[in-house]
Amino acid sequence: GKSGYDHYMLKEIHEQPSSLRQCLRGRVNELQGSVTLEELDAVVEQEFASPVQFVACGTSYHAALYAASLLQQEETPATATIASEFTTDRVPVNDGSLVVGITQSGETADTLRALREANRAGATTLAVTNTVGSSAARAADHALYIRAGPEIGVAATKTFASQQLALLLLSVALTGRSSHDDIQSLRRVPDQVQTILDTSSARAIAAELVDSQAFFFIGRGMHHPVALEGALKFKEITYEHAEGFAAGELKHGPLALVTEDTPVFAIVTGDGGTARKTISNIKEVEARDAPVVVVTDGVSDVERYADHVLRIPETDECSAAVLANVQLQLIAYWVANEMGRSIDKPRNLAKSVTVE
Ligand code: M6R
Repeated sequence: GKSGYDHYMLKEIHEQPSSLRQCLRGRVNELQGSVTLEELDAVVEQEFASPVQFVACGTSYHAALYAASLLQQEETPATATIASEFTTDRVPVNDGSLVVGITQSGETADTLRALREANRAGATTLAVTNTVGSSAARAADHALYIRAGPEIGVAATKTFASQQLALLLLSVALTGRSSHDDIQSLRRVPDQVQTILDTSSARAIAAELVDSQAFFFIGRGMHHPVALEGALKFKEITYEHAEGFAAGELKHGPLALVTEDTPVFAIVTGDGGTARKTISNIKEVEARDAPVVVVTDGVSDVERYADHVLRIPETDECSAAVLANVQLQLIAYWVANEMGRSIDKPRNLAKSVTVE
Protein backbone atom coordinates (compact mmCIF):
# COMPACT_ATOMS: atom_id res chain seq x y z
CA GLY A 1 0.00 0.00 0.00
CA LYS A 2 0.81 3.69 0.15
CA SER A 3 1.88 3.56 3.83
CA GLY A 4 -0.24 6.58 4.73
CA TYR A 5 0.86 8.75 1.79
CA ASP A 6 -1.82 10.09 -0.59
CA HIS A 7 0.10 8.85 -3.63
CA TYR A 8 2.73 6.28 -4.47
CA MET A 9 4.80 9.08 -5.97
CA LEU A 10 5.10 10.86 -2.61
CA LYS A 11 5.82 7.58 -0.85
CA GLU A 12 8.54 6.78 -3.38
CA ILE A 13 10.07 10.25 -3.06
CA HIS A 14 10.28 9.63 0.69
CA GLU A 15 11.80 6.17 0.21
CA GLN A 16 14.87 7.69 -1.43
CA PRO A 17 17.17 7.81 1.61
CA SER A 18 16.71 4.07 2.09
CA SER A 19 16.80 3.13 -1.60
CA LEU A 20 20.00 5.15 -2.04
CA ARG A 21 21.55 3.34 0.94
CA GLN A 22 20.68 0.05 -0.76
CA CYS A 23 22.40 1.24 -3.93
CA LEU A 24 25.63 1.95 -2.03
CA ARG A 25 25.58 -1.11 0.22
CA GLY A 26 28.81 -3.11 -0.01
CA ARG A 27 30.02 -1.07 -2.98
CA VAL A 28 32.13 1.70 -1.42
CA ASN A 29 35.20 1.38 0.72
CA GLU A 30 35.78 4.61 2.58
CA LEU A 31 39.17 3.57 3.99
CA GLN A 32 40.62 2.71 0.60
CA GLY A 33 38.69 5.45 -1.19
CA SER A 34 37.54 2.88 -3.71
CA VAL A 35 34.40 1.50 -5.35
CA THR A 36 33.79 -2.20 -6.00
CA LEU A 37 31.12 -3.34 -8.42
CA GLU A 38 31.64 -7.07 -8.29
CA GLU A 39 29.30 -7.79 -11.17
CA LEU A 40 31.42 -5.53 -13.39
CA ASP A 41 34.97 -6.71 -12.70
CA ALA A 42 35.35 -7.93 -16.28
CA VAL A 43 34.12 -4.63 -17.77
CA VAL A 44 36.32 -2.48 -15.57
CA GLU A 45 39.44 -4.40 -16.61
CA GLN A 46 38.70 -4.07 -20.33
CA GLU A 47 40.15 -1.20 -22.42
CA PHE A 48 37.70 0.42 -24.82
CA ALA A 49 38.85 2.04 -28.05
CA SER A 50 35.89 4.37 -28.56
CA PRO A 51 33.80 6.63 -26.33
CA VAL A 52 31.49 4.94 -23.82
CA GLN A 53 27.98 5.21 -25.31
CA PHE A 54 24.98 5.58 -23.03
CA VAL A 55 21.53 4.92 -24.54
CA ALA A 56 18.15 5.40 -22.85
CA CYS A 57 14.69 7.02 -23.03
CA GLY A 58 12.85 9.66 -21.02
CA THR A 59 14.03 10.07 -17.46
CA SER A 60 16.66 7.39 -18.01
CA TYR A 61 18.03 9.48 -20.91
CA HIS A 62 18.55 12.32 -18.44
CA ALA A 63 20.51 9.86 -16.30
CA ALA A 64 22.50 9.01 -19.47
CA LEU A 65 23.36 12.69 -20.04
CA TYR A 66 24.47 12.93 -16.43
CA ALA A 67 26.61 9.78 -16.75
CA ALA A 68 28.29 11.06 -19.92
CA SER A 69 29.17 14.31 -18.13
CA LEU A 70 30.61 12.37 -15.19
CA LEU A 71 32.97 10.44 -17.48
CA GLN A 72 33.89 13.47 -19.58
CA GLN A 73 34.84 15.29 -16.39
CA GLU A 74 37.43 12.53 -15.80
CA GLU A 75 38.73 12.86 -19.37
CA THR A 76 37.02 9.64 -20.44
CA PRO A 77 35.18 10.23 -23.73
CA ALA A 78 31.46 9.42 -23.49
CA THR A 79 28.22 10.16 -25.34
CA ALA A 80 24.51 9.96 -24.50
CA THR A 81 21.97 9.07 -27.19
CA ILE A 82 18.18 8.78 -27.09
CA ALA A 83 17.63 5.05 -27.64
CA SER A 84 15.06 5.54 -30.42
CA GLU A 85 17.68 7.60 -32.32
CA PHE A 86 20.46 5.06 -31.85
CA THR A 87 21.34 3.07 -34.92
CA THR A 88 24.64 1.38 -35.50
CA ASP A 89 25.05 3.01 -38.93
CA ARG A 90 24.92 6.52 -37.51
CA VAL A 91 26.57 5.80 -34.16
CA PRO A 92 29.65 3.74 -34.94
CA VAL A 93 29.84 0.67 -32.76
CA ASN A 94 32.35 -2.17 -33.02
CA ASP A 95 34.11 -4.74 -30.87
CA GLY A 96 36.06 -1.97 -29.15
CA SER A 97 32.91 -0.24 -27.90
CA LEU A 98 31.08 -0.24 -24.61
CA VAL A 99 27.35 0.49 -24.94
CA VAL A 100 25.45 1.09 -21.70
CA GLY A 101 21.64 0.85 -21.80
CA ILE A 102 20.01 2.61 -18.86
CA THR A 103 16.48 1.37 -18.20
CA GLN A 104 14.68 1.23 -14.88
CA SER A 105 12.14 -1.38 -16.01
CA GLY A 106 14.53 -3.24 -18.28
CA GLU A 107 11.62 -3.62 -20.72
CA THR A 108 11.68 -0.42 -22.80
CA ALA A 109 11.51 -1.47 -26.45
CA ASP A 110 13.70 1.33 -27.83
CA THR A 111 16.48 0.66 -25.34
CA LEU A 112 16.29 -3.11 -25.86
CA ARG A 113 16.60 -2.65 -29.63
CA ALA A 114 19.67 -0.41 -29.18
CA LEU A 115 21.31 -2.96 -26.88
CA ARG A 116 20.58 -5.81 -29.30
CA GLU A 117 21.95 -3.88 -32.28
CA ALA A 118 25.07 -3.04 -30.32
CA ASN A 119 25.49 -6.71 -29.43
CA ARG A 120 25.20 -7.70 -33.10
CA ALA A 121 27.87 -5.14 -34.03
CA GLY A 122 30.24 -6.78 -31.54
CA ALA A 123 30.15 -4.18 -28.77
CA THR A 124 30.36 -5.03 -25.10
CA THR A 125 26.97 -4.18 -23.58
CA LEU A 126 25.92 -3.29 -20.07
CA ALA A 127 22.39 -2.81 -18.73
CA VAL A 128 21.95 -0.44 -15.79
CA THR A 129 18.56 -1.50 -14.47
CA ASN A 130 16.32 -1.86 -11.45
CA THR A 131 14.89 -5.19 -12.49
CA VAL A 132 16.72 -8.46 -11.94
CA GLY A 133 15.99 -10.90 -14.76
CA SER A 134 14.50 -8.17 -17.00
CA SER A 135 14.84 -8.33 -20.79
CA ALA A 136 17.62 -5.72 -20.70
CA ALA A 137 19.54 -7.60 -18.04
CA ARG A 138 19.30 -10.72 -20.23
CA ALA A 139 20.04 -8.96 -23.53
CA ALA A 140 23.23 -7.27 -22.31
CA ASP A 141 26.56 -8.93 -21.57
CA HIS A 142 26.61 -7.42 -18.08
CA ALA A 143 24.15 -5.86 -15.64
CA LEU A 144 24.51 -3.25 -12.92
CA TYR A 145 21.54 -3.16 -10.54
CA ILE A 146 20.42 0.14 -9.07
CA ARG A 147 18.50 -1.55 -6.21
CA ALA A 148 15.76 1.09 -5.90
CA GLY A 149 13.02 -1.41 -5.06
CA PRO A 150 9.69 -1.53 -6.92
CA GLU A 151 8.32 1.78 -8.23
CA ILE A 152 4.54 1.99 -8.76
CA GLY A 153 4.08 5.65 -9.73
CA VAL A 154 4.37 6.18 -13.49
CA ALA A 155 6.62 9.17 -12.79
CA ALA A 156 10.14 7.89 -12.19
CA THR A 157 11.45 9.35 -8.91
CA LYS A 158 13.46 7.05 -6.68
CA THR A 159 14.66 5.09 -9.69
CA PHE A 160 16.18 8.25 -11.21
CA ALA A 161 18.01 9.08 -7.97
CA SER A 162 19.32 5.51 -7.78
CA GLN A 163 20.37 5.62 -11.44
CA GLN A 164 22.35 8.78 -10.70
CA LEU A 165 24.07 7.21 -7.70
CA ALA A 166 24.77 3.92 -9.51
CA LEU A 167 26.23 5.87 -12.44
CA LEU A 168 28.42 7.85 -10.05
CA LEU A 169 29.72 4.50 -8.77
CA LEU A 170 30.17 3.26 -12.35
CA SER A 171 32.13 6.35 -13.33
CA VAL A 172 34.49 5.92 -10.37
CA ALA A 173 34.91 2.22 -11.23
CA LEU A 174 35.55 2.88 -14.95
CA THR A 175 37.90 5.83 -14.58
CA GLY A 176 39.61 4.53 -11.45
CA ARG A 177 39.59 8.12 -10.21
CA SER A 178 38.38 8.89 -6.74
CA SER A 179 39.60 10.56 -3.62
CA HIS A 180 38.66 10.03 -0.01
CA ASP A 181 36.53 13.20 -0.34
CA ASP A 182 34.62 11.85 -3.36
CA ILE A 183 33.78 8.65 -1.52
CA GLN A 184 32.73 10.57 1.57
CA SER A 185 30.38 12.77 -0.41
CA LEU A 186 28.81 9.69 -2.05
CA ARG A 187 28.25 8.23 1.39
CA ARG A 188 26.53 11.37 2.63
CA VAL A 189 23.92 11.55 -0.16
CA PRO A 190 21.19 9.42 1.55
CA ASP A 191 21.28 11.51 4.76
CA GLN A 192 21.34 14.74 2.77
CA VAL A 193 18.25 13.64 0.83
CA GLN A 194 16.57 12.99 4.19
CA THR A 195 17.44 16.54 5.29
CA ILE A 196 15.77 17.90 2.15
CA LEU A 197 12.63 15.83 2.74
CA ASP A 198 12.48 17.10 6.33
CA THR A 199 12.95 20.78 5.50
CA SER A 200 11.75 21.47 1.92
CA SER A 201 9.57 24.51 1.34
CA ALA A 202 8.40 23.09 -2.02
CA ARG A 203 4.77 22.74 -0.92
CA ALA A 204 4.37 26.42 -0.01
CA ILE A 205 6.20 27.58 -3.14
CA ALA A 206 4.06 25.31 -5.34
CA ALA A 207 0.88 26.87 -3.92
CA GLU A 208 2.10 30.32 -4.96
CA LEU A 209 3.04 29.40 -8.51
CA VAL A 210 0.22 27.08 -9.46
CA ASP A 211 -1.61 29.61 -11.66
CA SER A 212 1.29 30.35 -14.00
CA GLN A 213 1.26 30.06 -17.78
CA ALA A 214 4.36 27.90 -18.27
CA PHE A 215 7.31 26.70 -16.20
CA PHE A 216 10.98 26.78 -17.18
CA PHE A 217 13.93 24.96 -15.67
CA ILE A 218 17.55 25.95 -16.23
CA GLY A 219 20.90 24.48 -15.21
CA ARG A 220 24.42 24.15 -16.52
CA GLY A 221 27.00 21.36 -16.41
CA MET A 222 25.87 18.56 -14.09
CA HIS A 223 22.67 20.52 -13.47
CA HIS A 224 21.62 20.61 -17.12
CA PRO A 225 20.19 17.05 -17.06
CA VAL A 226 18.52 17.93 -13.73
CA ALA A 227 16.78 20.91 -15.38
CA LEU A 228 15.56 18.62 -18.19
CA GLU A 229 14.35 16.05 -15.68
CA GLY A 230 12.67 18.73 -13.53
CA ALA A 231 10.65 19.84 -16.56
CA LEU A 232 9.77 16.30 -17.69
CA LYS A 233 8.47 15.33 -14.25
CA PHE A 234 6.54 18.57 -14.03
CA LYS A 235 4.78 18.29 -17.40
CA GLU A 236 4.12 14.57 -16.95
CA ILE A 237 2.04 14.96 -13.79
CA THR A 238 0.71 18.56 -13.92
CA TYR A 239 -0.18 18.60 -17.68
CA GLU A 240 1.22 22.13 -17.74
CA HIS A 241 3.74 23.37 -20.27
CA ALA A 242 7.21 22.92 -18.80
CA GLU A 243 10.58 23.06 -20.54
CA GLY A 244 14.14 22.53 -19.42
CA PHE A 245 17.08 24.33 -21.00
CA ALA A 246 20.81 24.56 -20.67
CA ALA A 247 21.06 27.90 -18.84
CA GLY A 248 23.27 29.35 -21.56
CA GLU A 249 20.70 28.58 -24.25
CA LEU A 250 18.05 30.91 -22.80
CA LYS A 251 19.30 33.93 -24.69
CA HIS A 252 19.42 31.93 -27.94
CA GLY A 253 15.64 31.72 -28.18
CA PRO A 254 13.62 30.62 -25.14
CA LEU A 255 14.01 34.04 -23.46
CA ALA A 256 11.30 35.24 -25.87
CA LEU A 257 8.80 33.16 -23.86
CA VAL A 258 9.77 34.54 -20.46
CA THR A 259 7.21 36.84 -18.80
CA GLU A 260 5.89 37.58 -15.32
CA ASP A 261 3.64 34.51 -15.76
CA THR A 262 6.46 32.02 -16.38
CA PRO A 263 8.33 30.97 -13.24
CA VAL A 264 11.94 29.97 -13.86
CA PHE A 265 13.53 27.30 -11.68
CA ALA A 266 17.33 27.61 -11.67
CA ILE A 267 19.86 25.24 -10.11
CA VAL A 268 22.99 26.91 -8.76
CA THR A 269 25.52 25.22 -6.47
CA GLY A 270 28.97 26.27 -5.34
CA ASP A 271 30.42 29.62 -6.35
CA GLY A 272 32.61 28.72 -9.31
CA GLY A 273 32.45 29.76 -12.95
CA THR A 274 29.42 27.56 -13.62
CA ALA A 275 27.45 29.19 -10.79
CA ARG A 276 28.47 32.73 -11.84
CA LYS A 277 27.33 32.15 -15.41
CA THR A 278 23.96 30.73 -14.36
CA ILE A 279 23.50 33.72 -12.04
CA SER A 280 23.96 35.99 -15.09
CA ASN A 281 21.19 34.04 -16.85
CA ILE A 282 18.98 34.45 -13.78
CA LYS A 283 19.46 38.22 -13.97
CA GLU A 284 18.25 38.08 -17.58
CA VAL A 285 14.96 36.44 -16.61
CA GLU A 286 14.56 38.62 -13.53
CA ALA A 287 14.74 41.66 -15.82
CA ARG A 288 11.64 40.25 -17.60
CA ASP A 289 9.84 40.02 -14.22
CA ALA A 290 9.70 36.21 -14.20
CA PRO A 291 9.35 34.71 -10.72
CA VAL A 292 12.71 33.08 -9.95
CA VAL A 293 12.99 29.95 -7.82
CA VAL A 294 16.53 28.87 -7.06
CA VAL A 295 17.63 25.45 -5.93
CA THR A 296 20.88 26.18 -4.16
CA ASP A 297 23.31 25.16 -1.45
CA GLY A 298 23.60 28.82 -0.40
CA VAL A 299 27.31 29.07 -1.22
CA SER A 300 26.97 31.87 -3.80
CA ASP A 301 24.91 35.05 -3.47
CA VAL A 302 22.24 33.72 -5.88
CA GLU A 303 19.48 34.07 -3.27
CA ARG A 304 19.67 37.86 -3.76
CA TYR A 305 18.11 37.36 -7.19
CA ALA A 306 15.48 34.82 -6.12
CA ASP A 307 11.82 35.15 -5.21
CA HIS A 308 11.84 31.69 -3.65
CA VAL A 309 14.61 29.40 -2.40
CA LEU A 310 14.81 25.61 -2.24
CA ARG A 311 17.82 24.77 -0.10
CA ILE A 312 20.01 21.70 -0.45
CA PRO A 313 22.98 20.68 1.71
CA GLU A 314 26.45 21.66 0.52
CA THR A 315 28.44 19.04 -1.38
CA ASP A 316 30.32 18.62 -4.68
CA GLU A 317 28.56 19.32 -7.98
CA CYS A 318 28.08 15.64 -8.93
CA SER A 319 26.26 14.76 -5.70
CA ALA A 320 24.43 18.11 -5.72
CA ALA A 321 22.75 17.01 -8.96
CA VAL A 322 21.09 14.17 -7.02
CA LEU A 323 19.99 16.51 -4.23
CA ALA A 324 18.67 19.30 -6.47
CA ASN A 325 16.48 16.83 -8.33
CA VAL A 326 14.69 15.86 -5.10
CA GLN A 327 13.51 19.46 -4.62
CA LEU A 328 12.19 19.50 -8.20
CA GLN A 329 10.36 16.18 -7.65
CA LEU A 330 8.60 17.81 -4.69
CA ILE A 331 7.71 20.90 -6.74
CA ALA A 332 6.15 18.76 -9.48
CA TYR A 333 4.28 16.69 -6.91
CA TRP A 334 2.86 19.61 -4.95
CA VAL A 335 1.80 21.60 -8.03
CA ALA A 336 0.07 18.50 -9.46
CA ASN A 337 -1.54 17.82 -6.10
CA GLU A 338 -2.79 21.40 -5.86
CA MET A 339 -4.35 20.95 -9.32
CA GLY A 340 -5.97 17.64 -8.37
CA ARG A 341 -4.20 15.67 -11.11
CA SER A 342 -4.06 11.90 -11.40
CA ILE A 343 -0.52 11.81 -10.04
CA ASP A 344 0.25 8.09 -10.00
CA LYS A 345 -1.33 7.38 -13.40
CA PRO A 346 -1.02 10.45 -15.63
CA ARG A 347 -3.24 10.42 -18.72
CA ASN A 348 -1.82 8.84 -21.90
CA LEU A 349 1.25 7.40 -20.16
CA ALA A 350 2.31 3.87 -19.21
CA LYS A 351 4.90 2.76 -16.69
CA SER A 352 6.82 0.78 -19.22
CA VAL A 353 6.81 1.45 -22.93
CA THR A 354 7.14 -1.85 -24.77
CA VAL A 355 6.57 -0.58 -28.33
CA GLU A 356 9.05 1.37 -30.51
O1 M6R B 1 12.03 1.80 -17.73
P1 M6R B 1 12.84 2.86 -18.42
O2 M6R B 1 13.82 3.53 -17.50
O3 M6R B 1 13.51 2.36 -19.67
O4 M6R B 1 11.77 3.94 -18.87
C1 M6R B 1 12.11 5.00 -19.74
C2 M6R B 1 11.02 6.05 -19.76
O5 M6R B 1 9.83 5.55 -20.33
C3 M6R B 1 10.71 6.58 -18.37
O6 M6R B 1 11.87 7.04 -17.73
C4 M6R B 1 9.70 7.75 -18.43
O7 M6R B 1 10.26 8.84 -19.08
C5 M6R B 1 9.28 8.09 -16.99
N1 M6R B 1 7.98 7.56 -16.69
C6 M6R B 1 9.25 9.56 -16.70
O8 M6R B 1 8.90 9.80 -15.37
